[in-house]
Amino acid sequence: MKQLESVKDLAIFGREPAFEKPVHVGKPNVGSRQQLMRRIEDLLDRRWLTNAGPYVIEFEKRLAQFLGVKHAIAMCNATVALEIAIRAVGLKGEVIVPSFTFIATAHALQWQEITPVFADIDPVTHNVAPEAVERMITPRTSGIIGVHVWGRPCAVDALTQIARKHKLKLLFDAAHAMACSHGGKMIGNFGDAEVLSFHATKFLNTFEGGAIVTNDDDLNAKVRLMKNFGFAGYDNVIYLGTNGKMNEVSAAMGITGLESLDEFVAVNRCNYDCYRKELAGIPGVELMQYDGRERGNYQYVVAEIDAERTGISRDELVKVLHAENVLARRYFYPGCHRMEPYRSLFPNAGVLLPNTERVASRVLVLPTGTSVGENEVRMTSRIIRVAAGAGKDVKVKLATLSS
Ligand SMILES: Cc1ncc(COP(=O)(O)O)c(C=O)c1O
Repeated sequence: MKQLESVKDLAIFGREPAFEKPVHVGKPNVGSRQQLMRRIEDLLDRRWLTNAGPYVIEFEKRLAQFLGVKHAIAMCNATVALEIAIRAVGLKGEVIVPSFTFIATAHALQWQEITPVFADIDPVTHNVAPEAVERMITPRTSGIIGVHVWGRPCAVDALTQIARKHKLKLLFDAAHAMACSHGGKMIGNFGDAEVLSFHATKFLNTFEGGAIVTNDDDLNAKVRLMKNFGFAGYDNVIYLGTNGKMNEVSAAMGITGLESLDEFVAVNRCNYDCYRKELAGIPGVELMQYDGRERGNYQYVVAEIDAERTGISRDELVKVLHAENVLARRYFYPGCHRMEPYRSLFPNAGVLLPNTERVASRVLVLPTGTSVGENEVRMTSRIIRVAAGAGKDVKVKLATLSS
């Protein structure tokens, strides 16, 4: 392990980097290779590669069972799943969403000419603030999409009440929240429907993939038609649809991953606990907490950097870490409202989003997952301790580097 005692030992000032190869925020979780390969051989033998194959059906069944939800509809990715869910529940006009989310939440609306109206977040939970949501309701509002950012449930109960009171549809973007609970009930059971992502970077992955989960029988039937071009049987199209189907290889990966979820959580939890210990007591560096009473996937290790206390900004710290080959990342920066087409459509949206802008400028996501262990966590924490502990000094040195 590299000796890292003071600022002069940092790679950004000329020393060797802490890691030879890049340490990523998250490398995909892969379950038993043997089981996956057996399933792939099996589906190749069967030559049933897609179109409601046996693995997709099994994956949907196991997923629904795991979440304790009536219906799980596997999809090619969460963005298409969001688009389909939005259409299936009949959203139109304006829909209220946080800006502090991955761009797909907003795009899934705008793609269908529905206006995403950005509501501010709670600075502590990073999730959309119910009072901000209520403030953004207009006669054109048809629904709300809450996002469970970092897998921490958003204000599900308050949003449910607001939706009821104003007769709005309620969806949740649960892309981060596979295997997480709210009030002891698994995420997937709330609102009209929830959407999960199984993208390679997510807690459970199917290479690319997603699912709509719902307890609503009619919605289930509608979504199943929509994701398969509206086919109700051979040569019989009864609805407008698209192609949102999951393929058999993805489903085989999903089933295999489901069998290893406990191991994935255990590794994430161990990394998280180690970060907690190693980052404790650094002024201006705050590690985001998970609610120990709920089930969580601990997929994201998120630190907030208070530049006034550390003397070094989050962005400067990112530069320091990248020089060491630790590819820590800013997240949801600069916020959907500062990306196109929203930046041009709503140039003043930021005025109503002060918490979003502040959190987006402070959040730092650190490497974890099954390819990261104690060495990586301890070294990453050490770099942060040294850089943030002498923040002003680092800042001055960085300025001379760039001048
Ligand atoms: C909050 C959120 N919503 C939606 C998506 C889109 O998921 P996908 O990549 O499966 O389309 C992602 C992730 O990529 C996400 O993080």
